[in-house]
Amino acid sequence: MTQPSSSHLPDHVAIILDGNGRWAKKRGLSRSEGHRAGGEALDRLLDTALEIKIPIISMYAFSTENWKRPAREVSALWKLMLEFFRDRLEKSLQKGIRVVASGDLSRLPAKNRRIIESVIEKTKKGRNLTANFCVNYGSQDEILRAVNRIIQEAAAGNRSKTKPVTRKEFEKHLYTAQLGPVDLLVRPGGEKRISNFLLWQCAYAEMYFTDVLWPDFDETCLREALDWYRKRERRFGALE
Ligand code: FPP
Repeated sequence: MTQPSSSHLPDHVAIILDGNGRWAKKRGLSRSEGHRAGGEALDRLLDTALEIKIPIISMYAFSTENWKRPAREVSALWKLMLEFFRDRLEKSLQKGIRVVASGDLSRLPAKNRRIIESVIEKTKKGRNLTANFCVNYGSQDEILRAVNRIIQEAAAGNRSKTKPVTRKEFEKHLYTAQLGPVDLLVRPGGEKRISNFLLWQCAYAEMYFTDVLWPDFDETCLREALDWYRKRERRFGALE
């Protein structure tokens, strides 16, 4: 398959992992089995991203709203993620993947928090791909957190109370401070919404929607999204 020209590759791709449940239902499987297949698709995606040389991938693995799901499904997801990060560590180290996370990890089961923090620490020198796992992540929460941090800095006397906040200062307080804006947002699963994912970072993202359910999203699907992206004319509000 032809390699998309690297000059037209997005620096930062964000993916909403949607459709695990429907994928499972179609096969008479449980939702947890759908999530397991979704985890396997994620593993394959990271390998493809490395091969194509995409610098940054953000993945929506668990949203602040996903707590509303039945407790059984939520705990199956935590179990799956625990296994995923355990299995992924060696691979990430070998392949030069830097794992980072966005979201409030403090609410996660302790085992999950520990494994994610340990993988982040151990892979921090990875230079080939930054894999940003968005876990217990919600964009509105992230924005409020940034605002509140700035208020707290001012209250503590570490910043002026009246100086207007600049975009640069605000972005320093986002989980994605080191990652920058999203160039391409991909949403499999047929829905056409952004679901509280990286709202600030997607201000000028190109948005690609496909009906393919996440567990079926393979190398061909990613390359199709990248080919589509390559043809977009990005103007960032200016003229051609
Ligand atoms: C949305 O599909 C998917 C999720 C809420 C969880 C995503 C999790 C994974 C892909 C696997 C586990 C994660 C890691 C990091 C290993 P859905 O359940 O809403 O699907 P539906 O819309 O078809 O019901």
